[in-house]
Amino acid sequence: MYGLKRYYYFALAIVGVSFFLLCSVFIQKTMTSIFVSFLLILGILLIRAYLKKVQLQIMLQQAQHMMEEGRCLDKIKFVTTTSVGITQDDIEMIKKYKDETDEVILAEIDKNGRAFDIFGVLGFLSLVKKEDFIPKDRFKLNVVLKDNYVLVSKSFEGDNVAFIHEWFFLSLLQLEANVPAVWGVDKSRTVIYMNFIQGKSLNEMIAEAGGEVRQSESFMSSKNGNYIRDQLEVDRSARVWGKRILDDDILSELSRQLDLIHSKGIVGVNIKPGNVVISKIDGNPYIVDFHSSRHKHVGTFIWRLLRDRDRLVANRRIGLNLLTEKVVNNHLIKLKNPDYQIDSNVYAPIDFGEGHAIGAFWNVTSGTGRWEQFMKKKMPSLKGKRILDLGSNNGCMPLMMLQAGAHEVIGIELSSHYVNQSNLVKEIFEWRDLTFYNFKPESGNMLKILDKDYGEFDLVTALCTLYYLNENDMIRLVNHISHISHKMVVQAIEGNVGSQENPDKPRRASVGFLINLLRNNGFERVSVSNYDYYDPRGCKRPILIGERD
Ligand SMILES: C[S@@+](CC[C@H](N)C(=O)[O-])C[C@H]1O[C@@H](n2cnc3c(N)ncnc32)[C@H](O)[C@@H]1O
Repeated sequence: MYGLKRYYYFALAIVGVSFFLLCSVFIQKTMTSIFVSFLLILGILLIRAYLKKVQLQIMLQQAQHMMEEGRCLDKIKFVTTTSVGITQDDIEMIKKYKDETDEVILAEIDKNGRAFDIFGVLGFLSLVKKEDFIPKDRFKLNVVLKDNYVLVSKSFEGDNVAFIHEWFFLSLLQLEANVPAVWGVDKSRTVIYMNFIQGKSLNEMIAEAGGEVRQSESFMSSKNGNYIRDQLEVDRSARVWGKRILDDDILSELSRQLDLIHSKGIVGVNIKPGNVVISKIDGNPYIVDFHSSRHKHVGTFIWRLLRDRDRLVANRRIGLNLLTEKVVNNHLIKLKNPDYQIDSNVYAPIDFGEGHAIGAFWNVTSGTGRWEQFMKKKMPSLKGKRILDLGSNNGCMPLMMLQAGAHEVIGIELSSHYVNQSNLVKEIFEWRDLTFYNFKPESGNMLKILDKDYGEFDLVTALCTLYYLNENDMIRLVNHISHISHKMVVQAIEGNVGSQENPDKPRRASVGFLINLLRNNGFERVSVSNYDYYDPRGCKRPILIGERD
């Protein structure tokens, strides 16, 4: 499993040796120590096997429950003979072939996802002739007619673990993600009947466009080195063609679907072109095949490891461009580049979590530390709000606001380096939080809002940034803001900051000056929250909230 089995055996060997050493200390007879260690390991394995059995039983019960619930809901529409245009005459003819399970096999699906159409009624599928049909190695797939529904049956040939896994994961996801919903199961034969996704697999789309991705008999029989080389060649072709034939919307929807699945704790998702079906009904990508997936607690080490592996595989086999741990580390190196920083230090340090950080993230006077310690308690309500952030630097504050529930944040930042950094920071937070953040960083002088129409905002923020402007521009800007927003948050600096390059700056950054600025330019009510921490330059950073009716 994912090459991880060897780590498992390695860990077991370490535990075995540790038991042996421990036993040797107490028993002092080598053979007895080996025997006792062996018994302990056996005990662990038996308990593990028992727990797995219990877990499978629970999954089975939950799958049953979720499947029944799903079938009662209107949201899931199972494909009927009418919806795929099978005529009444054809149905009468086909029904004569019903077997003892009350179903008729309409088509068999081969290793390349193509169908051998037995009755000639499924012309809309990617079809294959009998002589070109390459049987699947295991878990046969058929298109079947059952109770006037056209379903896909997947037979697990007695593999109860794979059967329960697939049943559980499909039922868990069917209302939230694009996966085939479960219509029914036959537990005694380990068969799942699932909704038929009307469309083509990505593999077929690539093959029809000219990409060499279909597996042939010779490919299948080539062994070891050749097989791996051939597989890499197929992956390369799929990558290139996948990017060529899929539009950006489908690719980003596919990434979203994968995030959705991972956010449910499901990892080990076998994303490959043959397992992605593009529906001709809604144009969306559907993911199939979950029998080898696993359920892990979201955020744990093993979940992160397997999620990262899924993303690597999706990048390699479909040509997606998903962030992985390795890419994140490269991004962090770029974000720390001194050329892009104020005073060559990261101005807004960010703790992304999970061991990823930039700058002195323990600092509570800037970046995520300041937000956690102070800002998030003092800011007005952000839920669902449209916000304009002036001087947004590397995007740390806008992303904190979005994490706190803001709907959209537009950031205006003078330095294009910081805007580039903001895009990386956004991408890393999205990767970490498995969510999309509606943050739009723009480069330019904040004064451009005087000339460009950005619409109305629920809140405008200028955190430690307004006083970079001269007094006249500050007045013009705040006055304009009072016409596009009812609220403005300004962060002041109390202390002798920036006075070397501009002796008047400490005055413009002071609480007293900023209170008057807000009051005299449209925000009649101003409240101030003091922040007790001094930054490394000995300054304090209170925030002011200006409001108008
Ligand atoms: C001290 S940092 C504050 C960053 C961020 N608001 C925060 O509180 O973490 C000031 C930021 O404002 C930007 N800035 C300065 N003058 C600006 C202007 N006229 N228009 C837009 N951004 C400006 C700087 O490039 C810098 O990123």
